[in-house]
Amino acid sequence: MNEKKHWEKLAPGYNDEIFDVYASDKFKKLPRYIKKHASLGKTAIDFGCGNGKSFPYLAPQFRNVSGLDISKGLLKQAAARGYSNVTLQAVDLTKSALKLPKADFAFCCNVVMFPDLQKNAIAFKNIARALRPGGTALFVLPSLDSALFSSWRLIQLYEREGVKAADIPAREFHYFKGNKRDLVQGIVYIDNVPTKHYSASELEVVLPQAGFKITKLEKLEYDWNTELAEPPEDFGAPYPWDWLVECQV
Ligand SMILES: C[S@@+](CC[C@H](N)C(=O)[O-])C[C@H]1O[C@@H](n2cnc3c(N)ncnc32)[C@H](O)[C@@H]1O
Repeated sequence: MNEKKHWEKLAPGYNDEIFDVYASDKFKKLPRYIKKHASLGKTAIDFGCGNGKSFPYLAPQFRNVSGLDISKGLLKQAAARGYSNVTLQAVDLTKSALKLPKADFAFCCNVVMFPDLQKNAIAFKNIARALRPGGTALFVLPSLDSALFSSWRLIQLYEREGVKAADIPAREFHYFKGNKRDLVQGIVYIDNVPTKHYSASELEVVLPQAGFKITKLEKLEYDWNTELAEPPEDFGAPYPWDWLVECQV
């Protein structure tokens, strides 16, 4: 997959088409985690900053913030936010041994989810190497368990209507359109785009391989209406989620 081409094409309609983690974060955990690590004496990098949705949280709390993204169209929108302590740079995070200035805090929200799995390993390593010793990275990453759980909830909904699992239209499971190997490797389709999803146990293996020590691994939860068109009122916790991972180098 050519990420640059894909994201340049999406850039003009980004706000309408791409899931807004900050607005959907049900228990407002992201701002709390950012605040925990922020200091006006520290520097931060937002890896895959998109159009800069994290900047209202990062820019006022860090000395300076570097926003990196592969899409020049999105970087232009990010620049238009007008933060004086934010610098922006076009960077491909999946290029081996990227040279970046060191930072104290790395933020990376729904970026390391490439269907070419090798690219994820390279991206994690680039982020680890960009941190000063003792620095912290905060990742938001798609959850394979959540994708499976949401589909199971959908099956329950059909059951209420008297439809057996075997009779549910195949299009309801369009997320799982890859082959068995894709599924086992966490490739789930979001808006027809193959997207790497992780199990918690997998993260406990791949993040240390990239040089991180996981200090917290928890759910970043969203309302059911982010997954189901008309969720019934009695669908509460457990909610659908992405993984929120705090790591140190
Ligand atoms: C789902 S968006 C998330 C954007 C932002 N982190 C947010 O939470 O709003 C994924 C972002 O990753 C960027 N991206 C994709 N591939 C990349 C790569 N190889 N190197 C750097 N950025 C990349 C895209 O341009 C896009 O801005």
